[in-house]
Amino acid sequence: MEKAPSPVLPTVGPFISKATPSKRKSTVKGGLLAATGILSLLALSRVPQLGVPEKIQRHWGQYSPYFPVGEYAQPPPGCVIDQVNILQRHGARYPNDDDDYYKAVRRLQGAKQLKGDLKFLKDYEYTLGVDDLLAFGALQSYEAGELAHMRYSQLLTNGLPFVRASGMQRVVDTAGNWSLGFMHSNFALSSPRGEPDSPLPIQIISEERNDTLNNDCPNAPNQDYYTDQWLHRFAPPIIKKLQKMAKGAHLEDEDVKRLLDLCIFETIANAPKSAFCDLFEYQEWKDWEYWGDVEKYYKTGYGDPLGPVQGVGYINELLARLTGTPVADRTTHDAALPFPLDRALYADFTHENLMVAVYGAMGLFDVSKHLDPTRLPPDEDREWFAGRMVPFSARMVVERLSCGGGDGGGGALVRIFVNDALQPLEFCNDGDEDLAELGLCTLASFVASQGYARRSGDGDFEKCYE
Ligand SMILES: *[C@@H]1O[C@H](CO)[C@@H](O)[C@H](O)[C@H]1NC(C)=O
Ligand SMILES: *[C@@H]1O[C@H](CO)[C@@H](O)[C@H](O)[C@H]1NC(C)=O
Repeated sequence: MEKAPSPVLPTVGPFISKATPSKRKSTVKGGLLAATGILSLLALSRVPQLGVPEKIQRHWGQYSPYFPVGEYAQPPPGCVIDQVNILQRHGARYPNDDDDYYKAVRRLQGAKQLKGDLKFLKDYEYTLGVDDLLAFGALQSYEAGELAHMRYSQLLTNGLPFVRASGMQRVVDTAGNWSLGFMHSNFALSSPRGEPDSPLPIQIISEERNDTLNNDCPNAPNQDYYTDQWLHRFAPPIIKKLQKMAKGAHLEDEDVKRLLDLCIFETIANAPKSAFCDLFEYQEWKDWEYWGDVEKYYKTGYGDPLGPVQGVGYINELLARLTGTPVADRTTHDAALPFPLDRALYADFTHENLMVAVYGAMGLFDVSKHLDPTRLPPDEDREWFAGRMVPFSARMVVERLSCGGGDGGGGALVRIFVNDALQPLEFCNDGDEDLAELGLCTLASFVASQGYARRSGDGDFEKCYE
């Protein structure tokens, strides 16, 4: 697989050739079990190979392109899915505006002599863009839309998905590409020869105001205190190694992070592999990955006392949809915006830091000990992996199911997948082991478990601003 030639990346959307939907059709039309369909979908993926071993990519943390962490399972026999809520991170992007990666390049180019794996820098030019969704990220988002259609098209009898996006352009573009993937699949099913369905309308929420799809808390402590401790431990040996190939270059610890980041961003922007990737070993990637774990944990995760509250607004919206009752939230829900409750499929597009806050507010990935910023724990003690929680195009999917023939008999149930891994929902313990085994929780218990959100964060929201 890794040796496959990289197809040329399309540079603008939409990223689908006219031929593709009908090719896909044979997979979908057969009404195969979704599991089989998903395998075919992955096999047909148009996302380019990156030329970097998966073993390394799996340690790319929050900058890893999407990969499924578990295997999606159909609902248990006797249950049908009757509502789906998708919360999805934007696809792979260029570096952020404040990522000053060029600084590391400049410092290395200032060396008296460049040798070995650094020789390429002699005539290297930094050309990465900023902030925007990459073609690679657009394609992964598009395929996520196709996959959602494959799994959930039976819900369309209640109308099309209601789609929202936080206002940053890359998030809006992600929602657009997802919608295209979703609608092209819909079109391929219904009328293979006509024109594709028009894209879905997207409710854009400005990031300048209360936005349940964006994290915001000016008074939250800065996670740099923690990430710097780890950076200053893992970077110095790497600097020593690099300086052997760059006599006279004055590298700072931050440059090590910049160079590791550059490998990833150049690779996903311009596949195949960036020359920066050759500078680093497996263990160094694990060290780098831990930097991101620490960052997410202390930025909006459990390590930040004002982290989880930033996800409360979304949780309250989710509860409103699941229970079919108006939103009750005194944090970031904006009641002036349309918020229908009559759909069966909702898709919201956002950033990773908001998703981590939502996990925290809900009780997912609740690690028992704070992450130690001074040492990388042995593998068996690690539970918090940014790469498994919030890679690019990460998605949390909350399914509502009805089991046992309806009529209030069985009652509504909930299960949650994060990147296709079924979550254990320990926080929502019904004391029913059969349900727990299936990752199911009654809707009533789920709602009961969300007291922190239902109380609008117990005063933490106010602490963000006062
Ligand atoms: C898909 O993403 C690209 C950016 O990579 C963007 O230019 C394009 O407008 C997006 N398509 C839709 C339909 O939003
Ligand atoms: C956000 O919501 C809070 C509470 O609902 C409110 O006090 C505040 O004025 C809102 N801020 C903006 C910018 O709308």
